[in-house]
Amino acid sequence: MTQKIDQIQTFKHTTDLNEIQDYFNNEKTPFVIKNAFSSNIDLNYLERHFSNQDVIALNEKSDKETLSMSELISKVNQGKKYRLRANTKIGNQLKENIDTHYLEQVRGNKKHLFDYLLSFGKTSRQNTLFLSTKECTFSKHAHVISGLIMHLYGNKTWYISKSRERFQSIKYKSLLNPNPLYVTDKDPTEEIALRLEPGDVLYMPAYWFHYTYSYDINISYSHFFTEPIQYYLYKTFLMFTYQAVTNPIHSFIKAIRKEPEEHIFDREEIIDKCNKIRNKAQRDEALRFFKDNDYS
Ligand SMILES: [Fe+2]
Repeated sequence: MTQKIDQIQTFKHTTDLNEIQDYFNNEKTPFVIKNAFSSNIDLNYLERHFSNQDVIALNEKSDKETLSMSELISKVNQGKKYRLRANTKIGNQLKENIDTHYLEQVRGNKKHLFDYLLSFGKTSRQNTLFLSTKECTFSKHAHVISGLIMHLYGNKTWYISKSRERFQSIKYKSLLNPNPLYVTDKDPTEEIALRLEPGDVLYMPAYWFHYTYSYDINISYSHFFTEPIQYYLYKTFLMFTYQAVTNPIHSFIKAIRKEPEEHIFDREEIIDKCNKIRNKAQRDEALRFFKDNDYS
């Protein structure tokens, strides 16, 4: 049976941890914990700690641009549109500076099979930094991993589906392979808008559709992990099996071995994938769809 939610379950920092753990382990729907931690991370902080390090960001045209953190911050301060997505290089360093203790308590220390895949390679894929500026958004999507998002600075509006999408209704199931990402139409009547503020923690379960919109500069840290195999088999069987079958395991592993910031989607890559669709009507439709959706 599909679970449907009318609002995002909201906990306070004073809520008993057992209650949150219970909800996390049993409900498997998105929830937020308000004021769960205090954040001292802002643009100045990133400048002080990481100024000389190079990052790959998407610029206003959604093209990849490599620049130092210092250059990025100065452009962002000038009001330019940039987006840093799932940056593991800084995310892993930042992990030492933010208190993830609370997340670990919510989640427990369990490590699941797929988590080992996430920690392949040079840096762990589990700790990632996001920085968005005004008007940054992305297509509505869902992924195989779950996230616990710690919102660090500014605010960001999340649009979260009220229920798990029916598999048949998903518009693009394998277009972005080998990156295991489902993409579908935005539909505000079937979504809940949730504004995240510094100190908030959001749980986004695997394969739950969402997208974000930024009205101003904001920074967040996402801790990604996989759910127990029972979750994928009982709650998201079709979405999980379809990806396991259509996304050959070797290309999947190749994709996750690469540093995520090296394969963040940019405009060119998405257009390229659309252009490979053989059927003309479908190709035009895909190009139109992604043109209307911000690539960042
Ligand atoms: Fe996402």
